[in-house]
Amino acid sequence: MEAVILALGSINADFQVRIDKPAGSAGLALAHDFRRLGGGKAANVAFLARRLGRAARLFGRVGDDDLAAQALTPLREVGVDLSEVCRAGGQTGFAMVLVPRSGKKNIVVAANANDEWSDEEIGKVCHGIELAPAGSVLVCNCEIPARVVKAAAGCARRHGMHVVLDPTFPDRVDDELLAMADVITPNEEEAHQLAGAGAICDIARALAARGPRVVCIKLDGGGCLLLVGKQEQRVASVDVEVVDTTGAGDAFTGAFAVALLEGRAPPEAARFAVAASTAAVMAYGAQPSYPDRSAVMALMPGEEERSSR
Ligand code: RIB
Repeated sequence: MEAVILALGSINADFQVRIDKPAGSAGLALAHDFRRLGGGKAANVAFLARRLGRAARLFGRVGDDDLAAQALTPLREVGVDLSEVCRAGGQTGFAMVLVPRSGKKNIVVAANANDEWSDEEIGKVCHGIELAPAGSVLVCNCEIPARVVKAAAGCARRHGMHVVLDPTFPDRVDDELLAMADVITPNEEEAHQLAGAGAICDIARALAARGPRVVCIKLDGGGCLLLVGKQEQRVASVDVEVVDTTGAGDAFTGAFAVALLEGRAPPEAARFAVAASTAAVMAYGAQPSYPDRSAVMALMPGEEERSSR
């Protein structure tokens, strides 16, 4: 059976606008380019995996409202397996995304259904992970409660799967969870929140000392800092016009996981992930900006396409 990207975490309905000027003293700003989109970090990872031609299964929760259709329809259209998504009472997760002219988004999230897990639902996630084909990779984030992520990561490790953790929200991530991850992919701000102030390479080393075999910090201006054991490497991104950074970090994490699933070593996975996240900043919205494999390879000069191994 084909190995699968198992994406666990937030599923949201994104409401996105562009604003040319911040709110003035009256607290009011005029916006345009309104879009209702599917979003949430796990949903975005699953969507990206499908764009890259890999099987993807989503683990998460939505409510029984109209926002659930907004969140799930784009995923269904690209072929994400939604059989493990719990549809409970209440409201689906909601994100308000403001994109200024710089493209550097601001997001406000109401977790809603993402935060309302029962023990029975957590048990179902573990069962789903146990049944996943060998070689599958668990990709998770903490826009759901940490106890869910820990239970899933424990199951994945017992079954010999790689665990990739995007440590958002960092205040939900403790040492126990960090030690369960093979790979962590914080952005710079999250890395500092987890490990304090200091030079970014010292921060990477401090995080690695807490358990993860691979620390890959997404750098503010694009590119990443990769630390594998004692080997440190910076991977630069190609210069492009930044239209919208929404979901670029999820594209990075998803592409890194896809590369691991395909048997690539971390340095190659990091180059692939940098190219995927670079592609994702070139268009408006998270999922609508996600590249297919040829668009990723076009941003990796000198690398030949390897669609499968
Ligand atoms: O990383 C982008 C995502 O963060 C958005 O899609 C939003 O829903 C939040 O989860």
